[in-house]
Amino acid sequence: MMFLWCVLVLVNLVSVSTSNNAGVKVRLTQKMLEYGRQIGIASIQQKLRSIKVPDISGTEKVDPIGKVQYSFTGMQIVNLGLPKSALGLVPDTGVMLSIGDAYINLHGNWRVKYLRIIKDSGTFDLAVSELTISTTIAVMSDDTGRPTVSMTNCAATVGSVNVKFHGGASWLYNLFSSFINKALRNALQKQICPLVADSIAEMNPHLKTLNVLAKVDQYAEIDYSMVGSPVISNTSIDLDLKGEFYNIGQHKEPPFSPTPFSLPYQDTNMLYIGVSGFSINSAGFVYHSAGALRLYITDDMIPSGSPIRLNTRTFGTFIPQIAKMYPGLMMKLLVETVKEPIIILEPNNMTVQAISTVTAYAIQPNSTLSPLFVLNLEGSVSADIYVTDLKLAGNLTLNKINMSLSKSYVGPFQVTSLDNIFTMVLKIAVIPKINARLQEGYPLPAIGKMQLVNSQLQVLKNSLLIGTDVQFTG
Ligand SMILES: *[C@@H]1O[C@H](CO)[C@@H](O)[C@H](O)[C@H]1NC(C)=O
Ligand SMILES: *[C@@H]1O[C@H](CO)[C@@H](O)[C@H](O)[C@H]1NC(C)=O
Ligand SMILES: *[C@@H]1O[C@H](CO)[C@@H](O)[C@H](O)[C@H]1NC(C)=O
Ligand SMILES: *[C@@H]1O[C@H](CO)[C@@H](O)[C@H](O)[C@H]1NC(C)=O
Ligand SMILES: *[C@@H]1O[C@H](CO)[C@@H](O)[C@H](O)[C@H]1NC(C)=O
Repeated sequence: MMFLWCVLVLVNLVSVSTSNNAGVKVRLTQKMLEYGRQIGIASIQQKLRSIKVPDISGTEKVDPIGKVQYSFTGMQIVNLGLPKSALGLVPDTGVMLSIGDAYINLHGNWRVKYLRIIKDSGTFDLAVSELTISTTIAVMSDDTGRPTVSMTNCAATVGSVNVKFHGGASWLYNLFSSFINKALRNALQKQICPLVADSIAEMNPHLKTLNVLAKVDQYAEIDYSMVGSPVISNTSIDLDLKGEFYNIGQHKEPPFSPTPFSLPYQDTNMLYIGVSGFSINSAGFVYHSAGALRLYITDDMIPSGSPIRLNTRTFGTFIPQIAKMYPGLMMKLLVETVKEPIIILEPNNMTVQAISTVTAYAIQPNSTLSPLFVLNLEGSVSADIYVTDLKLAGNLTLNKINMSLSKSYVGPFQVTSLDNIFTMVLKIAVIPKINARLQEGYPLPAIGKMQLVNSQLQVLKNSLLIGTDVQFTG
């Protein structure tokens, strides 16, 4: 049996190490654990309040009185504190939570009957102190690619128990103390670890909310499932996520694959998210494949104050044949990528290079489009990228364009004469359209009601690094 288990573990390890490279990496630092500890302790404290100490009753022979019937009932927790705790990383396993100096105060009723007719009763207060709980929490990934936690180890020890009786004779106290002490230790030993386990298990529904398939828009979704087990070192918990854009419902791989990357060591924030160049380029592939990177430009998209209009008169000043062949007509341009744009990440510098075509049409009075020419257009834009509301958003500015003639329906002409007009059209009609979309953002991996605070983004070579603190609201 043990052998079989070892084999299974080995098989699992092998399949993990040969799995796909991560496109996105998430690192939880000690600072995150500290925040997790505060939330965890509050939850455990709440749970432990539900400890029930059962009623105790029995008879005992006491010299020289004879049989004494006793009962202790209605024991209630009146106070409970977990003032000291620590959460530490256990490399390759998970985390260890130690709670020390915990205390529980209880209140209850006692009652005795002896010598047939004598009855007595009163109350008592119990103080349990120097309670310690030590538990190991394994962090793993489940079969849906989400993280999951479970308790693998737990020990609870009850330090001292002090009983204070109110009412009754003092000889009774000595008799009772040991019963109560034993019953209480029993109840606590039996109940603490299962309650801690419940508290830990209650994290899983939250972890299950990880957006393993994050919908982006009508074209794309991002696969954020884990591609391996969490890697737990002595300084962090690292999660490898697929981090790949796909067309909705149609998961076709791009003609390039992720290359290994690592997160630089930083620990001032709770959370670090590394987004590889692969992830970002997979977005370009998806939108290009979906035909989303094409845009018709019409005259109404050019600000009314502009002297340059999308008509055959304006273009006729650069290409006289156009004004002659198609006098007095409005024009329309179609800009579309011919292959996926390439996103280049260099330290503090993100640029996008797009190879596209521009087809110019004259619009006939009967709405038929007559093609005028097709240009190859290579554009380079700089991207300013930032984090907002659990999303990655961006803003492009045009760097330069390079155009060449692909096809003319109006005879030969000098393409460079159109440089200025196209630079302007891109700046005022195309880039703002793309920016409006980029500013809506792309979802980052997230769980439940998580908010990012103090986020910052660095552009590194071949990856983006987001450092952030988090807050869970409910
Ligand atoms: C953490 O582990 C690394 C290597 O595994 C070791 O060099 C380092 O001293 C350890 N740090 C602590 C704080 O234990
Ligand atoms: C940014 O990178 C691009 C392409 O790698 C390069 O052409 C450009 O000069 C760089 N810009 C800056 C400000 O370094
Ligand atoms: C539209 O008008 C153009 C130019 O007058 C003509 O060549 C074309 O046949 C017309 N198309 C239709 C569908 O009427
Ligand atoms: C986008 O960049 C342009 C040009 O650099 C700038 O004017 C604009 O304010 C930026 N918009 C945002 C939302 O950052
Ligand atoms: C512009 O494009 C042409 C052809 O597509 C190419 O030969 C040329 O090197 C490019 N120029 C620049 C500055 O990129």
